[in-house]
Amino acid sequence: FCWRSEMKLKRFLLRYYPPGIILEYEKGGALKTKSIDLLDLSPETDTEELISAIRKSEPLITASRVDQVKLLIVRLQEKLGQQDNRRFCLFKALQAHILPLTNVAFNKSGSSFITGSYDRTCKIWDTASGEELHTLEGHRNVVYAIAFNNPYGDKIATGSFDKTCRLWSVETGKCFHTFRGHTAEIVCLAFNPQSTLVATGSMDTTAKLWDIQTGEEVSTLTVSQLSLSLSVSLSLSLISHLSFPLISTCSHNHPCPHPFVNDFIQRVHTLIGHRGEISSVQFNWDCSLIITGSMDKSCRVWEAASGKCMATLAGHEDEVLDVCFDYTGQLIATASADGTARVYSAVSYQCISRLESHEGEISKICFNAQGSRVLTASADKTARLWDVQSGVCLQVLEGHTDEIFSSAFNYEGDTIITGSKDNTCRIWR
Ligand SMILES: *[C@@H]1O[C@H](CO)[C@@H](O)[C@H](O)[C@H]1NC(C)=O
Repeated sequence: FCWRSEMKLKRFLLRYYPPGIILEYEKGGALKTKSIDLLDLSPETDTEELISAIRKSEPLITASRVDQVKLLIVRLQEKLGQQDNRRFCLFKALQAHILPLTNVAFNKSGSSFITGSYDRTCKIWDTASGEELHTLEGHRNVVYAIAFNNPYGDKIATGSFDKTCRLWSVETGKCFHTFRGHTAEIVCLAFNPQSTLVATGSMDTTAKLWDIQTGEEVSTLTVSQLSLSLSVSLSLSLISHLSFPLISTCSHNHPCPHPFVNDFIQRVHTLIGHRGEISSVQFNWDCSLIITGSMDKSCRVWEAASGKCMATLAGHEDEVLDVCFDYTGQLIATASADGTARVYSAVSYQCISRLESHEGEISKICFNAQGSRVLTASADKTARLWDVQSGVCLQVLEGHTDEIFSSAFNYEGDTIITGSKDNTCRIWR
């Protein structure tokens, strides 16, 4: 009896960032996918060695598929080897809102983006023309957290200080559902990758899950024993990365106990070590590591499975306000109120580069998908673009007349948006 014969490979899909090959296959009549992650791939990687390693671990890659896989790996290597020395120019400054912006986010292709604001609205914009596509009106207070249901991009969720979360149609701008139940401000939210659920985190110290079809609450996770931002971000990251097979088996009228989530949160409880509040939390790509930024001026790296602290990245002279991994999870960036940012190796925990030239605190930091550039947003009214390896400031994006609260790269890394306290949003390309 041969198990292998039950699985039939249908086709390959290439994923550039992080590098990987997606296998679409048929099993028991159902179409499924799985990915071969090639997070260490570089233009120098020996293709033959890599293929023999893949063949050992992946039964779907049979001898007859080897040439095809080789071609895909070469294409990924070519993409990774491309030098990108582009300079960004201001493309459009949009009088986006009548009050400060809270957040900005691209859809997967980057052809549209959204802005949230203290003016109680969220707006959808066309990136190429700078044209406003829709204003999402209905919230009765600040729209603080916003998200597209990427990679689909047909829905938007908004979380507000009015304690509700709303789900909207991108095409029409109509509100599908208003999720009510939180008793305090909603400060973060996330879609699951299948886009069937939204998770919201609130100052009421709970995270809730909502079914986007029915508009009903699926369950509540109470996380009151933990530092709010840590627990909410963790619940959200966890929900969006790990626990969906579990959660999606629960019926709406009978919320399941989430054994995995509860167990995880209990284990997370042992992430003790910071001597100050946690400002930011993120998982790496495969969810094996968690990083936390803290008001105690350090960033800590934790092993997700054991909750063990693997490293303390010290060096900042003031609070760490934001932390992030690159797409492959091999680099960590930290941003601080001391006006500097740093890049560390997530493998050796050594500091690779120091990003020093901002003249005010840095509130947001992110990598481009390619992992070659870092983008920082600062109270000094500029956003800056840095070379990851050398720490050289390649560009200062100037023009905003007040603090920049939020900035983002599109997936291709050729467009940047910045959102400011000056009520405007700027597109750079
Ligand atoms: C992004 O938004 C634009 C404009 O609404 C749309 O045409 C495009 O299909 C979207 N892409 C994705 C991947 O969501």
